[in-house]
Amino acid sequence: MSAFTYRDGVLCAESVPLEEIAEAVGTPAYVYSSAEVEGAYHDFAEALAGLPATICYAVKANGNLALIGTLGRLGAGADVVSEGELRRALAAGIPADKIVFAGVGKTAEELAFALDCDILQFNVESLPELELLNRIALEKGRQAPVALRINPDVDAGTHAHISTGRADHKFGIDIDLAPAIFARAHDLAGISLQGIAVHIGSQLLDLAPFRAAFARSAALYQELRAEGFPLRRLDLGGGLGIVYRGEERPDLRAYAGIVREATAGLDAELIFEPGRLLVGNAGVLLTRVIYLKEGASRRYAIVDAAMNDLIRPMLYEAWHEILPAREAAPGADPLPVDVVGPICETTDTFARGRFLPPLAAGALLTICSAGAYSAVMSSSYNARLPAPEVLVRGDRFAVVRPRPDHEALISQDRMPDWIEGESPRRSMRSGVT
Ligand code: LLP
Repeated sequence: MSAFTYRDGVLCAESVPLEEIAEAVGTPAYVYSSAEVEGAYHDFAEALAGLPATICYAVKANGNLALIGTLGRLGAGADVVSEGELRRALAAGIPADKIVFAGVGKTAEELAFALDCDILQFNVESLPELELLNRIALEKGRQAPVALRINPDVDAGTHAHISTGRADHKFGIDIDLAPAIFARAHDLAGISLQGIAVHIGSQLLDLAPFRAAFARSAALYQELRAEGFPLRRLDLGGGLGIVYRGEERPDLRAYAGIVREATAGLDAELIFEPGRLLVGNAGVLLTRVIYLKEGASRRYAIVDAAMNDLIRPMLYEAWHEILPAREAAPGADPLPVDVVGPICETTDTFARGRFLPPLAAGALLTICSAGAYSAVMSSSYNARLPAPEVLVRGDRFAVVRPRPDHEALISQDRMPDWIEGESPRRSMRSGVT
Protein backbone atom coordinates (compact mmCIF):
# COMPACT_ATOMS: atom_id res chain seq x y z
CA MET A 1 0.00 0.00 0.00
CA SER A 2 1.28 3.45 -0.87
CA ALA A 3 2.17 5.88 1.90
CA PHE A 4 0.58 8.65 -0.20
CA THR A 5 -3.21 8.39 0.15
CA TYR A 6 -6.23 10.67 0.36
CA ARG A 7 -7.71 11.08 3.81
CA ASP A 8 -10.96 13.00 3.87
CA GLY A 9 -10.18 14.29 0.41
CA VAL A 10 -6.72 15.56 1.35
CA LEU A 11 -3.59 13.86 -0.03
CA CYS A 12 -1.27 12.86 2.81
CA ALA A 13 2.25 11.53 3.14
CA GLU A 14 1.68 8.93 5.87
CA SER A 15 -0.43 11.03 8.30
CA VAL A 16 0.75 14.46 7.21
CA PRO A 17 -1.37 16.46 4.73
CA LEU A 18 0.83 17.57 1.84
CA GLU A 19 -0.84 21.00 2.03
CA GLU A 20 0.60 21.41 5.51
CA ILE A 21 4.12 20.72 4.23
CA ALA A 22 3.66 23.08 1.28
CA GLU A 23 2.55 25.81 3.71
CA ALA A 24 5.57 25.20 5.92
CA VAL A 25 8.36 25.01 3.31
CA GLY A 26 6.87 26.54 0.17
CA THR A 27 6.84 25.01 -3.29
CA PRO A 28 8.32 23.35 -5.23
CA ALA A 29 9.38 20.82 -2.57
CA TYR A 30 10.25 17.16 -2.43
CA VAL A 31 8.51 15.03 0.19
CA TYR A 32 9.67 11.53 1.13
CA SER A 33 7.98 8.86 3.23
CA SER A 34 10.08 6.87 5.72
CA ALA A 35 7.46 4.11 5.83
CA GLU A 36 7.58 3.65 2.06
CA VAL A 37 11.41 3.42 2.03
CA GLU A 38 11.39 1.00 4.95
CA GLY A 39 8.62 -1.08 3.40
CA ALA A 40 10.49 -1.35 0.09
CA TYR A 41 13.67 -2.42 1.88
CA HIS A 42 11.83 -5.02 3.98
CA ASP A 43 10.06 -6.47 0.93
CA PHE A 44 13.33 -6.86 -0.92
CA ALA A 45 15.24 -8.23 2.08
CA GLU A 46 12.43 -10.67 2.79
CA ALA A 47 12.42 -11.96 -0.79
CA LEU A 48 16.18 -12.59 -0.50
CA ALA A 49 15.89 -14.25 2.92
CA GLY A 50 18.22 -17.22 3.30
CA LEU A 51 20.64 -16.00 0.63
CA PRO A 52 24.08 -14.76 1.78
CA ALA A 53 23.20 -11.26 0.58
CA THR A 54 24.22 -7.68 1.35
CA ILE A 55 21.91 -4.98 0.03
CA CYS A 56 24.01 -1.99 -1.01
CA TYR A 57 21.66 0.94 -1.68
CA ALA A 58 22.61 2.73 -4.93
CA VAL A 59 23.15 6.22 -3.52
CA LYS A 60 22.89 7.80 -6.97
CA ALA A 61 19.11 7.31 -6.82
CA ASN A 62 18.81 9.74 -3.91
CA GLY A 63 21.81 10.94 -1.96
CA ASN A 64 20.03 12.76 0.85
CA LEU A 65 21.71 11.76 4.12
CA ALA A 66 18.34 11.22 5.77
CA LEU A 67 17.36 8.57 3.21
CA ILE A 68 20.76 6.88 3.25
CA GLY A 69 20.55 6.94 7.05
CA THR A 70 17.02 5.49 7.05
CA LEU A 71 18.27 2.56 4.96
CA GLY A 72 21.52 2.25 6.92
CA ARG A 73 19.55 1.76 10.14
CA LEU A 74 17.87 -1.24 8.52
CA GLY A 75 21.23 -2.80 7.71
CA ALA A 76 21.81 -1.58 4.17
CA GLY A 77 25.26 -0.93 2.77
CA ALA A 78 25.87 1.47 -0.10
CA ASP A 79 26.84 1.39 -3.76
CA VAL A 80 28.61 4.64 -4.64
CA VAL A 81 29.99 6.04 -7.89
CA SER A 82 32.06 9.03 -6.79
CA GLU A 83 34.05 10.37 -3.88
CA GLY A 84 31.10 12.63 -3.12
CA GLU A 85 28.72 9.70 -2.80
CA LEU A 86 31.27 7.76 -0.75
CA ARG A 87 31.58 10.70 1.64
CA ARG A 88 27.79 10.96 1.84
CA ALA A 89 27.40 7.25 2.63
CA LEU A 90 30.03 7.49 5.39
CA ALA A 91 28.49 10.70 6.75
CA ALA A 92 25.11 8.94 6.93
CA GLY A 93 26.69 6.20 9.05
CA ILE A 94 27.13 3.38 6.51
CA PRO A 95 30.13 1.29 7.60
CA ALA A 96 32.97 1.35 5.04
CA ASP A 97 33.03 -2.43 4.93
CA LYS A 98 29.53 -2.38 3.42
CA ILE A 99 30.38 0.04 0.62
CA VAL A 100 31.10 -0.90 -3.00
CA PHE A 101 32.54 1.64 -5.42
CA ALA A 102 31.26 1.33 -9.00
CA GLY A 103 31.58 3.51 -12.11
CA VAL A 104 33.49 3.55 -15.42
CA GLY A 105 35.61 6.61 -14.73
CA LYS A 106 36.95 6.63 -11.19
CA THR A 107 39.88 9.05 -10.93
CA ALA A 108 43.21 8.34 -9.21
CA GLU A 109 42.20 10.67 -6.38
CA GLU A 110 38.90 8.87 -5.90
CA LEU A 111 40.55 5.44 -5.91
CA ALA A 112 43.15 6.57 -3.37
CA PHE A 113 40.50 8.09 -1.11
CA ALA A 114 38.33 4.97 -1.21
CA LEU A 115 41.33 2.76 -0.51
CA ASP A 116 42.16 4.87 2.55
CA CYS A 117 38.55 4.43 3.70
CA ASP A 118 38.88 0.61 3.60
CA ILE A 119 35.76 0.00 1.54
CA LEU A 120 34.44 -3.50 0.87
CA GLN A 121 35.06 -3.62 -2.87
CA PHE A 122 35.99 -1.73 -6.03
CA ASN A 123 33.93 -2.75 -9.05
CA VAL A 124 36.55 -2.28 -11.74
CA GLU A 125 35.37 -1.76 -15.31
CA SER A 126 38.53 -1.73 -17.47
CA LEU A 127 42.14 -2.86 -17.67
CA PRO A 128 43.59 0.66 -17.33
CA GLU A 129 41.49 1.22 -14.20
CA LEU A 130 42.74 -2.09 -12.78
CA GLU A 131 46.36 -1.15 -13.42
CA LEU A 132 45.95 2.32 -11.94
CA LEU A 133 44.31 0.91 -8.83
CA ASN A 134 47.13 -1.64 -8.53
CA ARG A 135 49.77 1.13 -8.66
CA ILE A 136 47.96 3.24 -6.08
CA ALA A 137 47.52 0.25 -3.76
CA LEU A 138 51.21 -0.71 -4.06
CA GLU A 139 52.30 2.86 -3.30
CA LYS A 140 50.30 2.62 -0.10
CA GLY A 141 51.61 -0.88 0.67
CA ARG A 142 48.05 -2.16 0.36
CA GLN A 143 45.90 -4.54 -1.64
CA ALA A 144 42.66 -3.30 -3.17
CA PRO A 145 39.68 -5.67 -2.98
CA VAL A 146 38.33 -5.94 -6.53
CA ALA A 147 35.40 -7.37 -8.41
CA LEU A 148 35.57 -7.07 -12.18
CA ARG A 149 32.37 -5.77 -13.73
CA ILE A 150 31.61 -7.79 -16.79
CA ASN A 151 29.43 -6.76 -19.69
CA PRO A 152 27.30 -9.86 -20.34
CA ASP A 153 25.90 -8.60 -23.68
CA VAL A 154 22.28 -8.83 -22.57
CA ASP A 155 19.63 -6.38 -23.73
CA ALA A 156 17.77 -5.14 -20.65
CA GLY A 157 14.74 -4.19 -22.75
CA THR A 158 14.36 -0.88 -20.92
CA HIS A 159 14.70 2.73 -22.14
CA ALA A 160 17.79 3.07 -24.37
CA HIS A 161 19.27 5.80 -22.13
CA ILE A 162 19.29 3.54 -19.07
CA SER A 163 20.35 0.21 -20.62
CA THR A 164 23.91 -0.75 -19.75
CA GLY A 165 24.41 -4.45 -20.45
CA ARG A 166 24.91 -4.73 -24.19
CA ALA A 167 28.34 -5.13 -25.77
CA ASP A 168 28.02 -1.72 -27.45
CA HIS A 169 27.51 0.08 -24.12
CA LYS A 170 30.46 1.68 -22.37
CA PHE A 171 30.04 -0.37 -19.20
CA GLY A 172 32.01 -3.34 -17.89
CA ILE A 173 34.51 -5.68 -19.48
CA ASP A 174 33.32 -7.68 -22.49
CA ILE A 175 32.52 -11.13 -21.22
CA ASP A 176 34.75 -12.72 -23.87
CA LEU A 177 37.74 -10.64 -22.79
CA ALA A 178 37.06 -11.19 -19.10
CA PRO A 179 39.09 -14.39 -18.48
CA ALA A 180 42.32 -12.73 -19.69
CA ILE A 181 41.70 -9.68 -17.51
CA PHE A 182 40.90 -11.85 -14.50
CA ALA A 183 44.24 -13.60 -15.08
CA ARG A 184 45.98 -10.21 -15.19
CA ALA A 185 44.20 -9.09 -12.01
CA HIS A 186 45.30 -12.26 -10.27
CA ASP A 187 48.94 -11.50 -11.10
CA LEU A 188 48.89 -7.94 -9.77
CA ALA A 189 50.34 -7.70 -6.27
CA GLY A 190 48.22 -4.67 -5.36
CA ILE A 191 44.94 -6.36 -6.28
CA SER A 192 43.01 -8.83 -4.17
CA LEU A 193 40.56 -10.48 -6.55
CA GLN A 194 37.19 -10.96 -4.90
CA GLY A 195 34.56 -11.54 -7.52
CA ILE A 196 32.41 -10.59 -10.46
CA ALA A 197 29.96 -7.71 -10.78
CA VAL A 198 27.18 -7.22 -13.30
CA HIS A 199 24.49 -4.57 -13.86
CA ILE A 200 22.48 -4.46 -17.07
CA GLY A 201 20.20 -1.44 -16.75
CA SER A 202 17.55 0.34 -14.76
CA GLN A 203 13.73 0.27 -14.51
CA LEU A 204 13.52 -3.37 -15.67
CA LEU A 205 9.98 -4.70 -15.46
CA ASP A 206 10.65 -7.96 -17.30
CA LEU A 207 12.79 -10.41 -15.34
CA ALA A 208 14.06 -12.43 -18.32
CA PRO A 209 17.12 -10.21 -18.96
CA PHE A 210 18.18 -10.70 -15.32
CA ARG A 211 17.93 -14.46 -15.81
CA ALA A 212 20.24 -14.30 -18.84
CA ALA A 213 22.76 -11.94 -17.23
CA PHE A 214 22.91 -13.85 -13.94
CA ALA A 215 23.31 -17.20 -15.72
CA ARG A 216 26.24 -15.83 -17.75
CA SER A 217 27.88 -14.29 -14.69
CA ALA A 218 27.42 -17.47 -12.65
CA ALA A 219 28.88 -19.64 -15.44
CA LEU A 220 31.95 -17.39 -15.62
CA TYR A 221 32.27 -17.48 -11.82
CA GLN A 222 32.22 -21.26 -11.87
CA GLU A 223 34.70 -21.45 -14.73
CA LEU A 224 37.14 -19.10 -13.02
CA ARG A 225 36.82 -20.87 -9.70
CA ALA A 226 37.53 -24.19 -11.44
CA GLU A 227 40.69 -22.60 -12.84
CA GLY A 228 41.77 -21.74 -9.31
CA PHE A 229 40.86 -18.04 -9.07
CA PRO A 230 40.01 -17.26 -5.44
CA LEU A 231 36.60 -15.67 -6.08
CA ARG A 232 34.13 -15.30 -3.23
CA ARG A 233 31.57 -12.68 -4.27
CA LEU A 234 29.02 -12.06 -6.98
CA ASP A 235 27.55 -8.56 -7.24
CA LEU A 236 24.30 -8.75 -9.17
CA GLY A 237 23.71 -4.99 -9.46
CA GLY A 238 20.40 -3.17 -9.31
CA GLY A 239 17.79 -2.40 -11.93
CA LEU A 240 14.43 -3.61 -10.59
CA GLY A 241 11.69 -1.32 -11.86
CA ILE A 242 8.88 0.44 -10.00
CA VAL A 243 5.36 1.51 -10.86
CA TYR A 244 5.03 4.87 -12.61
CA ARG A 245 1.85 4.28 -14.57
CA GLY A 246 0.02 1.19 -13.42
CA GLU A 247 2.69 -1.15 -14.80
CA GLU A 248 2.86 -4.60 -13.29
CA ARG A 249 5.31 -4.45 -10.41
CA PRO A 250 8.17 -6.96 -10.85
CA ASP A 251 7.60 -9.90 -8.53
CA LEU A 252 10.42 -9.81 -5.98
CA ARG A 253 10.00 -13.49 -5.13
CA ALA A 254 10.32 -14.43 -8.78
CA TYR A 255 13.45 -12.24 -9.00
CA ALA A 256 14.86 -13.96 -5.91
CA GLY A 257 13.98 -17.31 -7.48
CA ILE A 258 16.06 -16.41 -10.53
CA VAL A 259 18.94 -15.49 -8.24
CA ARG A 260 18.63 -18.76 -6.31
CA GLU A 261 18.57 -20.76 -9.51
CA ALA A 262 21.60 -19.00 -10.99
CA THR A 263 23.70 -19.12 -7.84
CA ALA A 264 22.80 -22.57 -6.49
CA GLY A 265 25.96 -24.40 -5.44
CA LEU A 266 28.23 -21.46 -6.33
CA ASP A 267 29.67 -20.74 -2.88
CA ALA A 268 29.42 -16.99 -3.42
CA GLU A 269 28.46 -14.11 -1.16
CA LEU A 270 25.96 -11.92 -3.01
CA ILE A 271 25.65 -8.16 -3.31
CA PHE A 272 22.64 -6.29 -4.66
CA GLU A 273 22.61 -2.63 -5.65
CA PRO A 274 18.97 -1.50 -5.79
CA GLY A 275 18.35 2.23 -6.03
CA ARG A 276 15.00 3.09 -7.60
CA LEU A 277 13.27 0.07 -6.03
CA LEU A 278 13.99 1.37 -2.52
CA VAL A 279 13.21 5.06 -2.89
CA GLY A 280 11.42 5.66 -6.20
CA ASN A 281 7.85 5.36 -4.99
CA ALA A 282 8.74 6.98 -1.66
CA GLY A 283 8.94 10.54 -2.96
CA VAL A 284 6.75 13.18 -4.56
CA LEU A 285 7.39 16.66 -5.89
CA LEU A 286 4.92 19.27 -4.67
CA THR A 287 4.21 22.16 -6.98
CA ARG A 288 1.64 24.95 -7.21
CA VAL A 289 -0.16 26.23 -10.25
CA ILE A 290 1.01 29.80 -10.88
CA TYR A 291 -1.23 30.55 -13.85
CA LEU A 292 -3.89 28.75 -15.81
CA LYS A 293 -3.53 29.82 -19.41
CA GLU A 294 -6.29 29.07 -21.90
CA GLY A 295 -4.76 28.95 -25.38
CA ALA A 296 -6.67 28.76 -28.64
CA SER A 297 -6.18 25.02 -28.82
CA ARG A 298 -4.64 23.97 -25.52
CA ARG A 299 -4.96 24.63 -21.83
CA TYR A 300 -1.76 25.11 -19.80
CA ALA A 301 -1.23 24.79 -16.08
CA ILE A 302 1.98 26.74 -15.52
CA VAL A 303 3.43 25.38 -12.29
CA ASP A 304 6.29 26.52 -10.08
CA ALA A 305 8.34 23.33 -10.53
CA ALA A 306 10.42 22.97 -13.68
CA MET A 307 12.84 20.75 -15.55
CA ASN A 308 15.64 21.92 -13.26
CA ASP A 309 13.77 20.28 -10.36
CA LEU A 310 12.72 17.06 -12.11
CA ILE A 311 14.23 16.29 -15.52
CA ARG A 312 13.02 12.71 -16.05
CA PRO A 313 10.02 13.59 -18.25
CA MET A 314 12.24 15.73 -20.48
CA LEU A 315 15.27 13.42 -20.59
CA TYR A 316 13.64 10.00 -20.83
CA GLU A 317 10.08 10.92 -21.82
CA ALA A 318 9.21 9.46 -18.43
CA TRP A 319 5.57 9.46 -17.34
CA HIS A 320 4.92 10.59 -13.76
CA GLU A 321 1.45 10.48 -12.28
CA ILE A 322 0.12 13.91 -11.24
CA LEU A 323 -2.46 14.11 -8.47
CA PRO A 324 -4.21 17.14 -7.01
CA ALA A 325 -3.36 17.55 -3.32
CA ARG A 326 -7.08 18.02 -2.68
CA GLU A 327 -9.48 15.55 -4.22
CA ALA A 328 -11.76 16.96 -6.90
CA ALA A 329 -15.36 17.70 -6.00
CA PRO A 330 -17.67 14.87 -7.07
CA GLY A 331 -18.94 15.39 -10.58
CA ALA A 332 -16.04 17.63 -11.65
CA ASP A 333 -15.11 16.22 -15.04
CA PRO A 334 -11.38 15.90 -15.71
CA LEU A 335 -10.09 18.13 -18.52
CA PRO A 336 -6.95 17.72 -20.60
CA VAL A 337 -4.20 20.12 -19.57
CA ASP A 338 -0.50 20.58 -20.34
CA VAL A 339 1.40 20.79 -17.06
CA VAL A 340 4.42 22.98 -17.79
CA GLY A 341 7.17 24.74 -15.87
CA PRO A 342 8.32 28.37 -16.09
CA ILE A 343 11.64 27.66 -17.90
CA CYS A 344 12.17 29.13 -21.35
CA GLU A 345 12.31 25.80 -23.18
CA THR A 346 9.50 23.92 -24.85
CA THR A 347 10.77 20.71 -23.29
CA ASP A 348 9.97 22.11 -19.83
CA THR A 349 6.75 20.10 -19.84
CA PHE A 350 5.79 17.52 -17.20
CA ALA A 351 2.72 16.22 -19.03
CA ARG A 352 0.82 16.93 -22.24
CA GLY A 353 -2.93 16.56 -22.48
CA ARG A 354 -3.13 15.06 -19.00
CA PHE A 355 -6.69 14.62 -17.71
CA LEU A 356 -6.89 16.45 -14.39
CA PRO A 357 -9.83 17.88 -12.44
CA PRO A 358 -10.45 21.56 -13.28
CA LEU A 359 -7.57 23.54 -11.79
CA ALA A 360 -7.32 27.08 -10.49
CA ALA A 361 -4.27 29.23 -9.87
CA GLY A 362 -2.82 28.35 -6.48
CA ALA A 363 -3.87 24.67 -6.68
CA LEU A 364 -1.34 22.29 -5.19
CA LEU A 365 -0.28 19.36 -7.39
CA THR A 366 1.75 16.28 -6.56
CA ILE A 367 4.11 14.76 -9.10
CA CYS A 368 4.41 11.13 -8.02
CA SER A 369 7.18 8.51 -8.00
CA ALA A 370 9.82 11.21 -7.64
CA GLY A 371 11.94 9.62 -4.92
CA ALA A 372 14.62 8.29 -7.29
CA TYR A 373 16.71 10.15 -9.87
CA SER A 374 14.75 13.31 -9.24
CA ALA A 375 16.17 15.71 -6.60
CA VAL A 376 19.64 14.29 -7.31
CA MET A 377 19.41 15.22 -10.99
CA SER A 378 18.30 18.77 -10.34
CA SER A 379 20.21 21.91 -11.28
CA SER A 380 19.92 25.64 -10.73
CA TYR A 381 19.23 26.37 -14.42
CA ASN A 382 17.55 29.75 -14.90
CA ALA A 383 19.06 30.66 -11.50
CA ARG A 384 16.23 28.80 -9.82
CA LEU A 385 16.73 27.72 -6.23
CA PRO A 386 16.95 23.95 -5.67
CA ALA A 387 13.77 22.57 -4.08
CA PRO A 388 13.92 21.71 -0.38
CA GLU A 389 13.52 18.10 0.74
CA VAL A 390 11.27 16.93 3.57
CA LEU A 391 11.12 13.51 5.23
CA VAL A 392 7.89 12.34 6.84
CA ARG A 393 7.65 9.76 9.60
CA GLY A 394 4.13 8.99 10.81
CA ASP A 395 2.62 12.32 11.87
CA ARG A 396 5.95 14.17 11.94
CA PHE A 397 8.06 15.75 9.26
CA ALA A 398 11.53 17.24 9.11
CA VAL A 399 13.23 19.42 6.52
CA VAL A 400 16.17 17.24 5.50
CA ARG A 401 17.56 19.73 2.98
CA PRO A 402 16.48 23.37 3.23
CA ARG A 403 16.01 25.58 0.21
CA PRO A 404 19.16 27.71 -0.10
CA ASP A 405 18.65 31.45 -0.53
CA HIS A 406 19.68 33.48 -3.54
CA GLU A 407 22.55 35.05 -1.64
CA ALA A 408 24.06 31.60 -0.98
CA LEU A 409 23.96 30.72 -4.67
CA ILE A 410 25.20 34.06 -5.93
CA SER A 411 28.06 34.09 -3.45
CA GLN A 412 29.46 30.88 -4.97
CA ASP A 413 30.63 32.93 -7.93
CA ARG A 414 33.65 35.26 -7.92
CA MET A 415 34.36 38.36 -9.97
CA PRO A 416 37.84 38.27 -11.55
CA ASP A 417 39.88 41.34 -10.74
CA TRP A 418 39.75 42.64 -14.33
CA ILE A 419 36.05 43.25 -13.85
CA GLU A 420 36.08 44.19 -10.22
CA GLY A 421 39.30 46.16 -10.64
CA GLU A 422 37.74 49.57 -10.99
CA SER A 423 39.42 50.74 -7.81
CA PRO A 424 43.06 52.02 -8.12
CA ARG A 425 44.27 49.50 -5.50
CA ARG A 426 43.00 46.53 -7.50
CA SER A 427 44.28 47.99 -10.75
CA MET A 428 47.76 48.27 -9.34
CA ARG A 429 47.73 44.74 -8.02
CA SER A 430 46.70 43.30 -11.36
CA GLY A 431 49.17 45.51 -13.18
CA VAL A 432 46.48 47.35 -15.11
CA THR A 433 47.01 51.10 -15.35
N1 LLP B 1 24.36 -0.33 -9.94
C1 LLP B 1 24.91 0.30 -11.00
C2 LLP B 1 26.25 -0.08 -11.43
C3 LLP B 1 24.18 1.30 -11.69
O1 LLP B 1 24.73 1.90 -12.74
C4 LLP B 1 22.88 1.65 -11.25
C5 LLP B 1 22.10 2.69 -11.93
C6 LLP B 1 22.36 0.97 -10.13
C7 LLP B 1 23.12 -0.01 -9.51
C8 LLP B 1 21.00 1.27 -9.57
O2 LLP B 1 20.02 0.97 -10.50
P1 LLP B 1 18.48 0.99 -10.06
O3 LLP B 1 18.27 -0.13 -9.06
O4 LLP B 1 18.18 2.30 -9.47
O5 LLP B 1 17.75 0.77 -11.32
N2 LLP B 1 18.64 8.49 -14.19
C9 LLP B 1 17.96 7.33 -14.73
C10 LLP B 1 18.46 6.05 -14.11
C11 LLP B 1 19.97 5.83 -14.22
C12 LLP B 1 20.45 4.56 -13.59
C13 LLP B 1 21.94 4.50 -13.54
N3 LLP B 1 22.53 3.35 -12.92
C14 LLP B 1 16.45 7.51 -14.54
O6 LLP B 1 16.03 8.56 -14.05
O7 LLP B 1 15.68 6.64 -14.93
